[in-house]
Amino acid sequence: MSRKKKIVVGITGASGAPYARRLLSYLSARVRGAGDVEVGVCLSATAPEVWALECGGDLREAIDLPVYGMRDYKAPFASGSAGWDAMAIVPCSMGTCARVAHGISDTLLTRAADVMIKERRTLVVVPRETPLSVIHLENLTALARVGATILPAMPSFYGKPEGVDQLLDTVVGRVLDHLGLEHDLVKRWGPSEQETSGVKKEGRS
Ligand SMILES: Cc1cc2nc3c(=O)[nH]c(=O)nc-3n(C[C@H](O)[C@H](O)[C@H](O)COP(=O)(O)O)c2cc1C
Repeated sequence: MSRKKKIVVGITGASGAPYARRLLSYLSARVRGAGDVEVGVCLSATAPEVWALECGGDLREAIDLPVYGMRDYKAPFASGSAGWDAMAIVPCSMGTCARVAHGISDTLLTRAADVMIKERRTLVVVPRETPLSVIHLENLTALARVGATILPAMPSFYGKPEGVDQLLDTVVGRVLDHLGLEHDLVKRWGPSEQETSGVKKEGRS
């Protein structure tokens, strides 16, 4: 069997906790099912508060994957030599974007992102804010320049999602794509969707 893919999920205090909940529930099922991934979770100080508001309940109790302490710099993915493959920050606040863009590794979450960047591994940032100021855009640009994938929490509608969960999956599915994990969470844009929608050609993101 090939080596398990090691994935870090960071959750911050931006709105969008349901995206994180959906991603973690998918990954947790995959850890227990196919068993081809290992997952570590890290949180910002504000993440539990926003989770409680948006999802209800205690974030740590809701997650059945290893959650590391905010300042646990001995966590495996705090070091490049441990060889973790990829990280997604879902959702990512503008504060965390700014800190990561400027190399401020003051928590395990920002340190883990810093490690992904320095090791030239996969970092997927799912920012959530509106509108975006020039400061936000410049920080996101700085992250894109060092190789991070900026994947905004912008759901799509062309797959005709039925309900909030399917809408969340239009973003979570793209996060999984960029983490390099095959999945069937979303309908792929292709000839059948084009026929039913009346659109003739060109892809969709
Ligand atoms: C209910 C709620 C929603 C928030 N939504 C956002 C948001 O969408 N984007 C953002 O950048 N900050 C948002 N904030 C503010 C952040 O939580 C705050 O800036 C915090 O300092 C971010 O810290 P962190 O990056 O360490 O999580 C929100 C705060 C609350 C309480």
